[in-house]
Amino acid sequence: MNSEFLNPDSVAVHGGREDLQALGVHALPLDLSTTNPLPDIERGGDSYESMALGGHPLADGGSVYARLWNPTVARFECALAQLEKAQAGVAFSSGMAAMTAAILASKATAHVTAQDGGRSTGQPHVVAVRPLYGGTDHLLASGLLGVEVTFCTENEVAAAMRNSTVLVVLETPANPTLDLVDIRNVVAQAGGVDVLVDNTFATPILQNPISLGAAMSLHSATKYIGGHGDAVGGVIACSEKTAEALRRVRAITGAILHPLGAYLLHRGLTTLPIRVRSQQESARVIAAWLANHPAVEKVYFPGSDGDPRSLLQHQMRGPGAMVAITLRGGFDAANRFTSAVQLFTHAVSLGGVDSLIQHPAALTHRPVAPEARPGANLVRLSIGLEDVADLIADLDQALSPLGCSASDPRVEAAVL
Ligand SMILES: Cc1ncc(COP(=O)(O)O)c(C=O)c1O
Repeated sequence: MNSEFLNPDSVAVHGGREDLQALGVHALPLDLSTTNPLPDIERGGDSYESMALGGHPLADGGSVYARLWNPTVARFECALAQLEKAQAGVAFSSGMAAMTAAILASKATAHVTAQDGGRSTGQPHVVAVRPLYGGTDHLLASGLLGVEVTFCTENEVAAAMRNSTVLVVLETPANPTLDLVDIRNVVAQAGGVDVLVDNTFATPILQNPISLGAAMSLHSATKYIGGHGDAVGGVIACSEKTAEALRRVRAITGAILHPLGAYLLHRGLTTLPIRVRSQQESARVIAAWLANHPAVEKVYFPGSDGDPRSLLQHQMRGPGAMVAITLRGGFDAANRFTSAVQLFTHAVSLGGVDSLIQHPAALTHRPVAPEARPGANLVRLSIGLEDVADLIADLDQALSPLGCSASDPRVEAAVL
């Protein structure tokens, strides 16, 4: 059945499995071949060339070599693209490999366009809306990829654009403070330059950036897409034209996702909608409970500040399951809190079935410039699938020594 007519929950279960019936199998096949027999030199060579340039394997030429193409990876890409309402998906060995490829592909495409027009664009330039995941911020600021970067806020994008701007990067909800960025507003300011949205926190279940005008929707698939903390991967949903540029970079740099990762991530998609909804419901309860706790200074959760621009309503289908808090007791309180939890695991990463807690300034956002780094009293929580009353009991026992325990009867009512 055409996925265009299916609801997301059905696409999550059936997407990318269109060839299974013809193969005579029910579960996803896992193809681990690194190389594939060639029909003959000419057809194998033509297929190789097609893929090295970012195209597909030729029907009679085979898929040649696993750095160029793998059917298990291709099925996952197809499923993700359907969920994101995009033409194509391109999967990478990690979220950071995906971000690297997006920047290199944008640079290469702009270079070709400039050459066609007989003009020089100068040093390629990227506009990046902060806050961003620390690794993304680090990559952009490092200069490693040969692009100049202007970091700015949402409403400074138009002023930051140059003739040489090849890409605008944003994250919404942003890591770690859950800031919401108006995707349409940034797309309008970018004036035709591609906008990449890191959609890791929202997932395709809660937000579809391509439908809002973005050129690329990027996921650290390591997080909600896989959902079980056992596969590292990245994926970008986009147009087929952009996918070609991304696959070319991927083939040249060797950044393709491993098939076992693709298998696990594709399997993870089947439960993505139900996990996201359930984890989100617990996150709502926990965010409300934390807001009443005397040890907590502020709760960061989409919509918790009244969201005056109603972005949560217009851009998303729910706030997601990430929560951040600042603690009145500063870094010392954050340190004691993260060490005292028992059901939450004190670990980086997010989006899995089990709840995690971590201190961004010390870990995920450590490489970020001091002026943009999260505060020392900020702690980030990824809410999992455990019983919400158990999670709250754990937070309570860990927070209690920092101040007095919250005993708001409304919380009890919300949980029970
Ligand atoms: C929002 C966001 N984008 C990208 C990444 C990078 O993904 P990966 O760790 O899979 O390379 C992360 C990792 O935490 C992230 O949180």
